[in-house]
Amino acid sequence: MSFSLNPPIRDWHNKVVWIVGASNGIGKALAQELVRRQAIVIASARSLENLQELSPAPRRTLALDISVPEMVRDAVRTLEQESLTPDVVFWVAGVYHPMGSDRLNLEQVRETFNINTIAAYSGLAEVISLWDKTPNHPRHWSWISSVAGYRGLPQAAAYGASKAALSYFAEVSYLELKQRQIAVSLVCPGFVATRLTQKNSFKMPAILTPHQAALETLSGLARGAFEIHYPKRFTLWLKFLGLLPDWLYFRIMRHALPSQDQH
Ligand SMILES: NC(=O)c1ccc[n+]([C@@H]2O[C@H](COP(=O)([O-])OP(=O)(O)OC[C@H]3O[C@@H](n4cnc5c(N)ncnc54)[C@H](OP(=O)(O)O)[C@@H]3O)[C@@H](O)[C@H]2O)c1
Repeated sequence: MSFSLNPPIRDWHNKVVWIVGASNGIGKALAQELVRRQAIVIASARSLENLQELSPAPRRTLALDISVPEMVRDAVRTLEQESLTPDVVFWVAGVYHPMGSDRLNLEQVRETFNINTIAAYSGLAEVISLWDKTPNHPRHWSWISSVAGYRGLPQAAAYGASKAALSYFAEVSYLELKQRQIAVSLVCPGFVATRLTQKNSFKMPAILTPHQAALETLSGLARGAFEIHYPKRFTLWLKFLGLLPDWLYFRIMRHALPSQDQH
């Protein structure tokens, strides 16, 4: 049996789409693909220069640092003033600092949680207060989280935990926003070749290009899925590992630990 958890989105023509984290990687590829599909794209990130170099160009570039709540508030106010209330928001922005629990860098822990998790709350709160001004419109919020949030992974002490929290929040927001016609999806990519994964020194299985990740994301929205995870040849294995009892999971994952001399 198959049924949609969200209203499927197949036609992007004239949809107002705000992509937060559009200057690089997956968000950039999403922005480019959605401009091609004739959506009205607003592209945001910290680097205005990178946003202005996007090709094809989005309708609007709006630089902001999501870890500064006032900047998020101002950005949403700008969207309202310019009659660009988004139909769809892709909350893509994220940072990754590989970190073992035996080598914690508290400054990087704080940055990871501020950007990957805490900022998500201010983003959603601000956009909901804008959406509340024109209720009864179908809207969609898409969280870009990660398979790293499924279970404890080596070197993901901060990143994996920040994404586990984000995925949890995604489920809560799905449950509670549905009755207000706000659909919510949770995107959990495996490895994608971007600036973020350049930090990994190990061989990343089943790695995708950002364009492939963007297409997988959009096809998940076209199916009306809640969780959109890809590539399945990798993510289904992780889901299977997630079902194992702790003793077996930890035994398998111990083999993935970096050797001591890599520190
Ligand atoms: N690559 C992967 O394998 C992978 C796998 C699973 C999940 N993800 C998730 O996918 C998302 C995109 O990652 P990516 O791989 O495409 O990384 P990326 O190439 O580094 O892109 C990250 C984007 O987020 C923006 N960003 C970061 N901090 C920001 C801030 N404080 N305010 C506003 N924008 C900010 C960056 O722009 P500026 O630097 O210009 O601000 C950039 O546009 C992240 O949430 C990541 O956790 C990635």
